[in-house]
Amino acid sequence: CGIVGYAGNPNTACGKPLEVCLQGLERLEYRGYDSAGVAETAPGMGHIVVRKKAGRLSNLVSSLEQQPLPPATVAIGHTRWATNGVPSDVNAHPHTSQDGNVALIHNGIIENASQLRLDLQAQGYRFSSATDTEVAAKLLGKIVDAVIEEKGHSDLFEAVQRLGRMLEGAFTILAIDSREPDVVVGARHDSPLVVGLGEGENFLGSDVAAFVAYTKQAMEIDQDQTVKVTADEVIVADFNGTIVEHPKTYTVDWDASAAEKGGWDSFMDKEIHEDPAAVQRTLIGRMSDDGTIHLDEVHIDEHELKAVDKIIVVACGTASYAGMVAKYAIEHWVRVPVEVELAHEFRYRDPILTPRTLVVAISQSGETMDTLMALRHAREQGSKVLAICNTQGASIARESDAVLYTHAGPEVAVASTKAFVAQITAAYILGLYLAQLKGTVFRDEIRNTFDQLQAMPRKIQWVLDTQPSTIEQAAVQLADARSFLFLGRHVGYPVAMEGALKLKEIAYTFTEGFAAGELKHGPIALVDEGEPIVFIVPPARGRNVLHAKVLSGIEEVKARGAYIIAVAEVGDKDVERYADVIFWRPECPTLMSPLVDVVPLQLFAMDMAKQKGYDVDKPRNLAKSVTVE
Ligand code: G6P
Repeated sequence: CGIVGYAGNPNTACGKPLEVCLQGLERLEYRGYDSAGVAETAPGMGHIVVRKKAGRLSNLVSSLEQQPLPPATVAIGHTRWATNGVPSDVNAHPHTSQDGNVALIHNGIIENASQLRLDLQAQGYRFSSATDTEVAAKLLGKIVDAVIEEKGHSDLFEAVQRLGRMLEGAFTILAIDSREPDVVVGARHDSPLVVGLGEGENFLGSDVAAFVAYTKQAMEIDQDQTVKVTADEVIVADFNGTIVEHPKTYTVDWDASAAEKGGWDSFMDKEIHEDPAAVQRTLIGRMSDDGTIHLDEVHIDEHELKAVDKIIVVACGTASYAGMVAKYAIEHWVRVPVEVELAHEFRYRDPILTPRTLVVAISQSGETMDTLMALRHAREQGSKVLAICNTQGASIARESDAVLYTHAGPEVAVASTKAFVAQITAAYILGLYLAQLKGTVFRDEIRNTFDQLQAMPRKIQWVLDTQPSTIEQAAVQLADARSFLFLGRHVGYPVAMEGALKLKEIAYTFTEGFAAGELKHGPIALVDEGEPIVFIVPPARGRNVLHAKVLSGIEEVKARGAYIIAVAEVGDKDVERYADVIFWRPECPTLMSPLVDVVPLQLFAMDMAKQKGYDVDKPRNLAKSVTVE
């Protein structure tokens, strides 16, 4: 879910709280779009106004246009990815206390909500929704009443701290109280919250995208902390009320315009076209004149890194496929075993972790709960964790021993594209760095490989310049296909998995990705007349034995009537003989090929979704940043 909050000055705020919330929600909509809502209040209003609507944010916006809300000083807004209760007007956030004086929004899952609900019901509280959030709202109302009784006045900050101590599970909460109409209070446990520092106004958001149009100054709110925000003041305290003296602040390193469509049809289209820049920016400043790789920000002791005897990559979705690609390169260069594990499977299988294990957590958002939990487990077991992350100050970056940032810029479309190529690039840099430390690759070879990486943005650009019309024609022709298989070997295998994932995510076409060698062990039974099969064909040069093997796979399914789409190197005559459609890649070494091969598959998925009339940026049921386990 996406969360935004604003506190302004009563004399100047006027319509701004609502404007800020709606604009913030628009930028956070990639976090969920099942329903959206806002709540606001102002001095003298004496109550809270709430408006919420099921469906996309546009439904809420048109409702507010038809019936505008009065001016306010503080507001909170929420865009939901349903976890608990179906997407509907009633289940949408904000939820309010029994007397309507307190409104609350929430991201996460409150695990003891059922018990709390029963307790409150027994005390006469009535519920109108099926959500855990309403339980938190009713409970907060009750706590606020208790605080008023004790102190003689409302103290939302203290009430939220008490609430934080009572809730179990994961949550970011924002609340407002009509009796303190200049205050917004936030709290977080295992779910993200950032403060935006303005002049005479302050902001809260799930991430900086919520407020970067207004301020680039951000403040981190750490685990189990609460924050009280007014127009002129930001106070951070833990759940026991102990003030945090110097919360960490930072300047956001990207511009609001980076998260705008800038003339493109969709964010996805724009972001695929940023693939070359994402790779290029991730490489900047890594190679020094003397031919050595520099990772200045990685503050893990060199001796510890040298001693690493196993690497485990933990990640989800697209990031896990970037990890699979990296496994081939890192094992080849560093001669250390690399395991790649879906983060949600990792900690529950009692993995073997020692101080010599390096866990690499890959995450675009840096907020994926599954990945966060996996890295916490690894650190508890004494292993070092290095994050490859695209979001400054995100939880995964903060909680790791070191971070290697990908510099892909903000990724807005739910289906990940430019982050994937940036993640592979960063993981390759890490691999080369470890190889340099361990002396497993000669310096000249490290430099050559780095040069190969530097040539990749140009090669990706070639694909973007020359292949789109072939790809679009293929999408027009295949839009109605019921299913697709994606097959590849070696580094082509994770690329096939990623190509299959893209197509299922946004075009809702049933797809399966397989290792091409596995074809004969099962998937070939699925092959029927006209079945479209995408093959990632490795380079033929240097008598690459894998090329011949993938080609045999193509022959086998062609003989059974399959429709062959190949991603292959320019001039590959063998592929030309069998394939019905070819997306060409320029010449490049095998280990570099994933950086180009994924690009036509990203474009193909997008074109397929467009052909079918779907919203490519916001596919149904998905959210970009999954902050629940
Ligand atoms: C969600 C998104 C995917 C993404 C995955 C991991 O499932 O829909 O596109 O690959 O999370 O996200 P992360 O931010 O950790 O890279």
